[in-house]
Parts: sequence; C-alpha cells; structure tokens
Amino acid sequence: MPLPLIDVHTHMYLPRYVALLRARSKVPRIVSRKGGDRLIILPDEEADQSTSAGRPIGGEFHVVDRKLAFMDHHGIAISVVSSANPWIDFVEPGEAPALAAQLNDDLEEICAASNGRLLGFGVLALQRPETCAAELKRLARHPHMRGVIIGSAGRGKGLDDPGFEPIWRAAEETGLFVFIHPHYGIGHGLFPDTGHAMMLALGFTFETSIAVALLILRGTLERHPGLKLLIAHAGGTLPYLAGRLDSCVKNDISKNFGLPRPPSHYLRQCWYDSIAYHPPALAALEAFADPAKILFGTDHPFFRPHVGDDVLDRTTWPSPEENLQALSALESGRQKAIAYGNGLAAFGVELP
Ligand code: URA
Ligand code: ZN
Repeated sequence: MPLPLIDVHTHMYLPRYVALLRARSKVPRIVSRKGGDRLIILPDEEADQSTSAGRPIGGEFHVVDRKLAFMDHHGIAISVVSSANPWIDFVEPGEAPALAAQLNDDLEEICAASNGRLLGFGVLALQRPETCAAELKRLARHPHMRGVIIGSAGRGKGLDDPGFEPIWRAAEETGLFVFIHPHYGIGHGLFPDTGHAMMLALGFTFETSIAVALLILRGTLERHPGLKLLIAHAGGTLPYLAGRLDSCVKNDISKNFGLPRPPSHYLRQCWYDSIAYHPPALAALEAFADPAKILFGTDHPFFRPHVGDDVLDRTTWPSPEENLQALSALESGRQKAIAYGNGLAAFGVELP
C-alpha cells in the first residue's frame, strides 16, 4: 500500500491574482500566445521577447479541481496550499495590505469548501511590514490557515530586516508557520544561457540559505524560540553547510555575532520540506534536522511533465516521483513520519 501523503509545499495562483498578472505589461505577468498562455515571473526574463519566454501556464496553476486531481493521482490526502512566487511583492505599498487580506480570505474559502483536503499558507504585504502583525492575528482566526509564505528576499532587504521584528513576534505568538521560499535567486549574472535550470537548482537554494542564515545570525531565533520556520527545498543548502557555518562563525576574528549557541542549534529548531530529489541529500537532512520537523512536499504545479493538457491530470509528475523515490531509501517508520505523521502533528489535523 502506498503511504498517504501530506504535501506542505504546493502552490496556486489564486484567480484574483491570475487576473492581476494578466492585466500587467511588465514582469511578473501572464501573456496569451498562440500556443497557450505563458507565465513570466523570473527577474531576468523581462528582456526575453521570444515566444518561449517564461513557461506554459494552464489550469493546473489556478483551478482547485486540478489541484485535487493532482492530489488524487499522487495519493496526496491533504495539501497545505500557498500562493506562488513572486506573491504580491510588486504591488503598490498602498494597495498591498488590502490585497493580501483578500487573497487570504479567498484561500480560506477554497480550503473550507474542500472537505478536509486543503489547508492554507497566506501572504503578507511585506512592503508594509507594520500591517503584517495584525494580518497574522486575523489569519490565526481562519480555521484552515496554518501560516504564511514569505519570500527569502523580504521587501528587498532580506529577512533580517529590522522592520520585520513585529512579524516574527506575531508569528511566534499565534503559533502560525512562516514558510520561507525563494524567488529572486542569487548570482544569475554568473550563469547566462542556462534557461531556468541553474537559477532553480542553485540560485533559489542559495537565496534561501543566505536569508535563513542571516536571520539566525542576527538573533531572530534566539529572541523567538517558538517561531515555526518552514524552509523550502530541504533547507536549500543548509543541512549540508551547517557545520561550515558554525565553524566560520565561531572562528571569525572580525565579527562577534553575540549568539549564545552555534547557528546549527537554531537551524535545528526549523521545519524542512523533503524536496531533495536525491537519497544522499535527503539523508543529510535526516541526519541534521529534528526528526519531527521534516515534511513531505511536491512544489506542484512547477516542474510540469512534458505532456499535453488532455493527459496532464492522469500523468505522474517527476517531482513527487523523484522525492518519493528518495524517501523510499529511509526505514519505514521514518518514511511514515515524513509522508504524513509529522504533517498531522504539525498542522493539528487527521487524515480525511
Ligand atoms: N519555480 C518557481 O518559480 N517557483 C517554484 O516554487 C518552483 C519552481
Ligand atoms: Zn515552491
């Protein structure tokens, strides 16, 4: 019998957001082309005027029944759905808080109608950080919301932005998760002509790693030990580099970060998805993280298989397949914990 799954890393562009992207003439945007709609979101895609700019976007990105069809095909019992990058980063500061609240209410409504299949991570108007604590407290009263997704770049000043302190305090107080996810990448000037591959494989993971490391070095988890951070893509590079980070911090003759404990202590307080694609990478996460804090994820609807729309919902997608394959290398108790046991405990739900 395949294990039931709880997917904590799965996205949607909500219909209200899709309408916004369609109306835009700059990245991020959705353009209609003869061969179908294209989603153009990555920062270095602005200059790409070719018909192959961006990636195809169909209903799998925004139709709830398509999410449920994907879940059914892959044995996913519950999904914790989050908006996808770049969230509402590009919205005028004056409009962003109201839009965040509307998107959060839209997601709550979708989850409430799903018969226990969907939970949500909302969004925050990071360009107006002084509004975010109130939105977090409002979200905590939505029965199906379990946290928020935040881009690793914050409002462009990283996650150690002093203006974000009220966000961390409110997240700790409400017990909501903060799901940290990349978008802008690191170093894309260094790898021209590599499509999306280098950006997604290395740019994204280093973006997350640097943002989380800085958050820790500035003492955020020391000040907020109850803060529940969920770090995307198996922690980026952090489970592998945590020892190096500890050593470099301890032996730095030019800077004393004033932390009573090594960075790895705080990294062990965090939650991680299991999107590692590879048994050795998942084994590194397993060896490093708290065993109760590793949660299955798929990154749907990104990394779409190369098949026609007519068969997409009946096709096995590579990301869940490769991540389940990596999971199958662990002993059976650990497989169950990551597949669903840890998720049930983290989100306070039962299998539907
Ligand atoms: N590509 C993206 O832009 N976002 C993801 O979450 C995954 C791949
Ligand atoms: Zn993602």
